[in-house]
Amino acid sequence: MFEDEEESKHSVEILTYDFPVSKIQLQIKTMKLHVGVSRSVWKASVIMARYLETLLPDLQNVNTVLELGSGTGLGGIFARTLLKEAETVYMTDICTKSLQMIRENILLNMTSGEISVNYLEWGKHDINHELNDDKAFPTEHQGQFDLIIASDVVYIPECLQPLLQSIKHFMKPTGTCLLVNNRIRQDLFIDRFDGMLDQAGLKKSKEDEVIEGADKFKVYLLTHQ
Ligand SMILES: C[S@@+](CC[C@H](N)C(=O)[O-])C[C@H]1O[C@@H](n2cnc3c(N)ncnc32)[C@H](O)[C@@H]1O
Repeated sequence: MFEDEEESKHSVEILTYDFPVSKIQLQIKTMKLHVGVSRSVWKASVIMARYLETLLPDLQNVNTVLELGSGTGLGGIFARTLLKEAETVYMTDICTKSLQMIRENILLNMTSGEISVNYLEWGKHDINHELNDDKAFPTEHQGQFDLIIASDVVYIPECLQPLLQSIKHFMKPTGTCLLVNNRIRQDLFIDRFDGMLDQAGLKKSKEDEVIEGADKFKVYLLTHQ
């Protein structure tokens, strides 16, 4: 199906998100879908942005940021806007349509500062291919990131291990990963989570529960062991 044809079959909305602490306002284009998961803003990304606001005093030395599973892009675009001094923010996803929507949302917010959008499948770091012009995230970024962010990415059991491998692979020895999960989705394999972190060579440096309306979110700060 052509892209335009696909858009016309779904209702496209531009939603406004306000973050009072940092006074950042973002506009995010979303698509109401009948299939797929990646073209709306998942609430975990809003929680992640709010959490980043509270962490700001500790993020002054953050220079390189990587987002995994960016979806429509709220998390990475927020990080780019908040962390003005950071050199580059890389946003990644496995889904070509998401990568296109991230680019549109970057333009919509006139995001300044360097920002890069790349194809990345978790756990696959040595692939050098182009998919519909989307360049794969290069493996030479290994160990380069001060901060890795990811929201609502823990929901497919077989993807958890590759996700943790990517966090381990790309995070600096002194780096931190902020991971925000929807509690209900994560509970499916919560009993295995700690063991898998250990296996991946990661550890929790902080674990919080945020209750937002009826939903609960788990917020983790992860570091190397
Ligand atoms: C539930 S969405 C969350 C999107 C966004 N982080 C948010 O909170 O709004 C999960 C995202 O992870 C991406 N994803 C799923 N499996 C992946 C994989 N194996 N490698 C890379 N990205 C993946 C999906 O394409 C989707 O954009």
